[in-house]
Amino acid sequence: MTPDALAALHARCFAMPRPWSAAEFVSLLSSKGVFLQRIAAGFALGREIAGESELLTLAVDPAMQRQGLGRRLLSAFETESRERGATIAQLEVAATNTAALALYKITGYTESDRRLRYYTPAQGDKIDAILMRKSLI
Ligand SMILES: CC(C)(COP(=O)(O)OP(=O)(O)OC[C@H]1O[C@@H](n2cnc3c(N)ncnc32)[C@H](O)[C@@H]1OP(=O)(O)O)[C@@H](O)C(=O)NCCC(=O)NCCS
Repeated sequence: MTPDALAALHARCFAMPRPWSAAEFVSLLSSKGVFLQRIAAGFALGREIAGESELLTLAVDPAMQRQGLGRRLLSAFETESRERGATIAQLEVAATNTAALALYKITGYTESDRRLRYYTPAQGDKIDAILMRKSLI
């Protein structure tokens, strides 16, 4: 998947936080510890540093959601995180993102912290960011 394709898919999946540009994907993919797990209809971008792995983003094409692909990509992110030496996985998700929250909860992530009024949507009130963690050992 090219940076342009990653950006196009990201834009189909996200209004908030704002979608990332192809240039931002190029920059991220060349950053220390960053890795990509991808399938035709989606991708997970992770970063492992010093034993902690962060899920930077996870996206499944809206036309292909609810078919188990998000769960598969999350599992692939965790597997590569372990292979790279991570013992903890962490992520950040908007408090209003019910689909992602449901996925993370059923796969063993628990809330570790909350950033109040962290996201500013195009309309409406600011939204909390929920930080979640999962042990990989
Ligand atoms: C979050 C996302 C990656 C989930 O991908 P997906 O392929 O649809 O997820 P799956 O089919 O693997 O779902 C696995 C489980 O998660 C939960 N889930 C997923 N989407 C859900 C929804 N819309 N509502 C409620 N639960 C949901 C369900 O428990 C589901 O299992 P089930 O279908 O057997 O009930 C996808 O909705 C997406 O790309 N959203 C836009 C981008 C985004 O918000 N990414 C996460 C940023 S933190």
